[in-house]
Amino acid sequence: MNNKKILITGASGQLGYELQCSIPSDYRVFACDAEVLDITHTQKIQKIIDAQQPDIIINAAAYTAVDKAEMEADLAWKVNHMGAKNLAKVATQHSIQLVQISTDFVFDGRQSSPYLAEPYLSKPLSVYGQSKLAGEQAVLEYAPNSLLIRTAWLYSSHGNNFVKSMLNFMQTRESLGIISDQIGTPTWANTLAVTIWQLLEKGSTGIYHCSDNGVASWYDFAIAIQTLALQHGLLKQNIPIKAIQTRDYPTPAVRPAYSLMDKTKTESSLGITLPHWQTSLSKMLQSIKSL
Ligand SMILES: NC(=O)c1ccc[n+]([C@@H]2O[C@H](COP(=O)([O-])OP(=O)(O)OC[C@H]3O[C@@H](n4cnc5c(N)ncnc54)[C@H](OP(=O)(O)O)[C@@H]3O)[C@@H](O)[C@H]2O)c1
Repeated sequence: MNNKKILITGASGQLGYELQCSIPSDYRVFACDAEVLDITHTQKIQKIIDAQQPDIIINAAAYTAVDKAEMEADLAWKVNHMGAKNLAKVATQHSIQLVQISTDFVFDGRQSSPYLAEPYLSKPLSVYGQSKLAGEQAVLEYAPNSLLIRTAWLYSSHGNNFVKSMLNFMQTRESLGIISDQIGTPTWANTLAVTIWQLLEKGSTGIYHCSDNGVASWYDFAIAIQTLALQHGLLKQNIPIKAIQTRDYPTPAVRPAYSLMDKTKTESSLGITLPHWQTSLSKMLQSIKSL
């Protein structure tokens, strides 16, 4: 029984929700949404730390609107860089362990082999990626004993994400065109939440990668969503899905063409094999059906 107290920021987001659904019984959790704790407000952070005295902070708060960030760069930087820096400073001052979550969008996508779990030195392609990388660097500088976990293509039954948008489009549109030249790995936020608890249990610090296993394009992901949703009875009929190229669907933010992450360190240190993305997707769709 470790009886440690955990403060979760961004508690109403996808990861915040999945963390709360999977809390090991020996942790006490104080979960704050953005209204209770805005991570850009240093005085508010200090007040909550003084009142709650957590042993660990899991920072699940972030500005995650990748395209909108190109127009709201100041806000994205404030939350993803300054917010992370604020938490890192307070964590070090109070000997609290910080868990910071980052993204595969810090990578520029020019590699052709999975990115290693180590500090990243090249320039991300988008404002979101740049602000998240600056958040990583602030955490490594101000709270070097933190646990920094990069994840990718997150979805959950809670919140807005690619899976839920696809399910909606598949019921309301006659056909879809989905990008097939961006390669990564979809990740059920439940996989990430469970892995965070396991890494904490093990006392891990440093940089780790956590996504589901396997490789997919957004097109592969959409095809799997339709196939599995039909099997689970969430959709009634198939619609045609066409593979398109990134250049056919311009967006404000540039995304990495390749963002696979090497997860050997995470799997070997925990003695686990992360689930395949299609297994996780099937479980998530099942959970939507039973909601
Ligand atoms: N979503 C993805 O595909 C993805 C991929 C890779 C990595 N990640 C990373 O994974 C982590 C979790 O992402 P997620 O998908 O769970 O994000 P999410 O669903 O967008 O949740 C983020 C939460 O942070 C809150 N928030 C925003 N600004 C805040 C502030 N100033 N202070 C406190 N809370 C604030 C948001 O509240 P409001 O909604 O009220 O603004 C929201 O509840 C993030 O670090 C993200 O960068 C996400």
